Amino acid sequence: MKILIQDATVALPTGLVQTNILVDGERIAAVDAAAHAAADEVISARGLHLLPGVIDDQVHFREPGLTHKEDLTTASRACAKGGVTTYLEMPNTNPTTTTVERLHEKLALAATKSLVNFGFYIGATPGNLEELTAATRTPGIKIFIGSSTGDLLVDEQAALEAIFAETTLPICAHCEDEATVRANAARLAGTHDVADHSRIRDHAAAMIATRRSLDLAFRHQHRFHVLHVSTGDEADVVADHRGLITAEVCPHHLFFSIDDYARLGTLVQMNPSLKTTDDNRRLWQALLDGRIQVIATDHAPHTWEEKQQPYSPGHGGSPSGLPAVENSLALMLNEVNRGRCTLPQVVHWMCDAPARVWDLVGKGRIEVGYDADLVLVDLAKTATIRHAEQETKCRWSPWDGTALTGWPVRTWVLGQEVFRDGKIDDTIRGREAIYDHVRGGYWKTGD
Ligand code: DOR
Repeated sequence: MKILIQDATVALPTGLVQTNILVDGERIAAVDAAAHAAADEVISARGLHLLPGVIDDQVHFREPGLTHKEDLTTASRACAKGGVTTYLEMPNTNPTTTTVERLHEKLALAATKSLVNFGFYIGATPGNLEELTAATRTPGIKIFIGSSTGDLLVDEQAALEAIFAETTLPICAHCEDEATVRANAARLAGTHDVADHSRIRDHAAAMIATRRSLDLAFRHQHRFHVLHVSTGDEADVVADHRGLITAEVCPHHLFFSIDDYARLGTLVQMNPSLKTTDDNRRLWQALLDGRIQVIATDHAPHTWEEKQQPYSPGHGGSPSGLPAVENSLALMLNEVNRGRCTLPQVVHWMCDAPARVWDLVGKGRIEVGYDADLVLVDLAKTATIRHAEQETKCRWSPWDGTALTGWPVRTWVLGQEVFRDGKIDDTIRGREAIYDHVRGGYWKTGD
């Protein structure tokens, strides 16, 4: 099947150009195609922008084991609607993805269920080095250096040294120092004030763990990606990347701060916790000047009922995390409209940079031979986020009631249209992402 997308303003690696794109089967066949190139479908896209599909490199899709919160069908529907054509999913499911066998089971499940392309990290434990060295069909290794949802945790120095010394896959980590978090929690024991979440998972906890990880990465010369940076100070230390370090920020750490607990309560309880408006400002600045390369959501759905429980750290209570995968692109397009950043910058942070960090083959750019994972966006469309309209199984959003201008209107996965004007084609299936880890990551391919 050939599709000709005419007259869109296309986000090419060289910049925005009004041109025609020809898709042939799964691939981009021509950029600057003839206006009347033969095609089975011709789409007149004047006034719209064509972007590479978004690659979200940090999501929690809860299958297997936690499917009352989310599953690969509902989550990938949310992706299709949000313009996300590839996701890389975290290992804190039940069972955890900590062996090659479980990794392959997840991949097989996604092949039958996922409407968009997929990949799964393998999780580190204090004793699974053999699995970490045997895994190949994965973007990399995830370490919870501080614990979060679930019981994955590696914070013993010897175990961390061994992982960095003996594995070759790129590593990413949740950086919050476990000892600091525990000491703060003991000091604030018995609290039900959700604002204490940011005092327990405080600035120091994030900084200590990020510095510790960078030290491991530098000494072992190991590629390392700092997940969900939440403080301006971390953004400063990751600037010294030495060709090894990349970093990411989540929309919630750009748009919410500790001031939002009063309005949103446990809906904005997440790990790492919210910090100050000054951190918001500094994280934005770090994105704009390139110290942080990637935007990812950390989509972490919990049911509305779970989130309505009182804040009660260490004693059950409201869990940490929020859903975001279907709104992240719109949130950023709205910022383009507000003049805070440009469309090519958004494409870099959400498409090209994650593809390069994780060595994804054929993804992240509109270029001949690349996969036809595409999203057509209408920068003039205004719509309001509503709980009831969310595709995520938990059916709520911390941005409920927020009007945004700039929305995805059509999404293609490998040349197949999976989303069009509010309708999702749930017969479409994505495919397992392919990694060329020999290529060497973000810094080896220019910037
Ligand atoms: O808030 C969070 N929730 N942060 C994480 O790192 C994990 C996530 C989850 O899985 O719920």
